[in-house]
Amino acid sequence: MTIPSEQKRMVRALKDDVQERPPFWLMRQAGRYLPEYREVRKQSKNFLEFCYSPDLAVEVTLQPLRRYQLDAAIMFCDILVIPDALGQNVQFLEGEGPVLDPVRTVDAVSRLSAERLHEHLAPVYETISRLSREIPEETALIGFSGAPWTNAVYMVEGRGGTNCGVIRNWAEQAPEDFQVLIDLLVDSTSEYLIRQVESGAEIIQLFDSWAGVLSEDQFRRWSIEPTRRIVERLKQSCPGVPVIGFPRNAGPLSEAYVRETGVHGVSLDQDTDPEWIAKTLQPLCTVQGNLDNKVLVTGGEALDRAVLKILETLSGGPFIFNLGHGVLPETPPEHVGRVAELVLGWPGTGQGTG
Ligand code: CP3
Repeated sequence: MTIPSEQKRMVRALKDDVQERPPFWLMRQAGRYLPEYREVRKQSKNFLEFCYSPDLAVEVTLQPLRRYQLDAAIMFCDILVIPDALGQNVQFLEGEGPVLDPVRTVDAVSRLSAERLHEHLAPVYETISRLSREIPEETALIGFSGAPWTNAVYMVEGRGGTNCGVIRNWAEQAPEDFQVLIDLLVDSTSEYLIRQVESGAEIIQLFDSWAGVLSEDQFRRWSIEPTRRIVERLKQSCPGVPVIGFPRNAGPLSEAYVRETGVHGVSLDQDTDPEWIAKTLQPLCTVQGNLDNKVLVTGGEALDRAVLKILETLSGGPFIFNLGHGVLPETPPEHVGRVAELVLGWPGTGQGTG
């Protein structure tokens, strides 16, 4: 017996329902800050293999739900399974993060292929379908993917943590060539997400973690437009399944993103002012965010104050409580417990704080 999606707190928020107590989940809620995650993680040397092991991926997805009363489970996987499935060499090196053999020419793009996409990603679909049977009945299941621009950053730069000089230069100097890569990503990402929904995902989140390095014109072409095409495909194939976009560090351009992509919800980073979000974005769509993940590490009164400020400012409109970016590995798990207590007790927890 499960509750229909549209009655779950998360999905209701994304249909613009204003609820007295907002739903909450955290980006990277499964991960290294949990000792039980590190224990399971040891069973697989290779991170991608771990992502493609439904037994392990289901287990680590469920771990945070056993500790905290979260309103959503996000399937455990990574955004870089897409370049991997397209045939690019992707490796996760201990202490270094992802390293890829860079793709920097139309020729290199033409050597990638979506022909075996679903075959390659079948374990991810299996993880989702098992999770849809195993999560608590009131919990919503989130599927996800990287947005084309953010996957392209890793594919072209070959790693994270750069200033994106190579990719920005390519996109600027030879936009028609770069468009070939983006088109491949729009198509494969759409296909991947539709299959996720068919396997049991009830909400989709698109991570555009590197959106903030783009100028306005580039942002429209390489973040908004590819996202709009994916959202349109999802609306056609999976009507009723809400999409949350996360154009991290897009600043005031988040407004154009919301107006032009058609997303049902927008996730905001910690540098976006909650008052501005309430005034400018919340009348347009559901907003998600935006607690500073470093304050979650600090804890104590600073954490209480930051959580309550966000709740006070945003809980009057359609809202999902979350972080501005993922949970950091050094986060004490009890600080997440404190956030859960404050959000679940809302609005009662806000009384007497002036
Ligand atoms: O709980 C969840 O949120 C689900 C799992 C999830 C992971 N990655 C697991 C992971 C999700 C949603 C992601 C998304 C992801 N992956 C993004 C977008 C969000 C963001 O953080 O900006 C990006 C850019 C990636 C790419 C990626 N994966 C990097 C740069 C790294 C290395 C840095 C790091 O945090 O280690 C990863 C590895 C990764 N993905 C880990 C986890 C739990 C850590 C690897 C390990 O356990 O050894």
